[in-house]
Amino acid sequence: TTERTFSIVKPDAVERNLIGKIFAMIEDSGLRIAATKKIHMTKAQAEGFYAVHKDRPFFNDLTDYMCSGPCVVSVLEGENAISRYRELMGATNPENAAEGTIRKRFAKNIEANSVHGSDAPETAATEIAYFFNQLEIVG
Ligand code: CMP
Repeated sequence: TTERTFSIVKPDAVERNLIGKIFAMIEDSGLRIAATKKIHMTKAQAEGFYAVHKDRPFFNDLTDYMCSGPCVVSVLEGENAISRYRELMGATNPENAAEGTIRKRFAKNIEANSVHGSDAPETAATEIAYFFNQLEIVG
């Protein structure tokens, strides 16, 4: 069945002009971009988005980083989109990311790791709804 996932091209990648290269990797993998927009998150928006990590030691740095410059948020669609996009991204820490993944190619470190993708159907639904309304998503 067709599934949707939520993607962020993070500030480190937008700053290095990598939006198109990352979108090409997404499209070449067979996933479709159902919605996309460039945003510059506020600190409050970043804190809300990453609320699940609020007790982690990296939370303040992470939320500062995510509002340090513009991002591109997208909804991706396809068969098993959530697990396929996680595979395409590679491990959170680029030192552990496999060859051919987005993070292996582009990520700078565990924080500036170029992309985010939802980890499960419930988080995908929550994350999509955090940035998009239904009228903006065209499958
Ligand atoms: P992301 O998939 O966006 O989800 C949470 C983010 O926190 C993660 O990618 C990393 O960019 C960032 N982060 C920073 N330090 C850590 C860490 N030690 N473990 C996991 N995530 C981290």
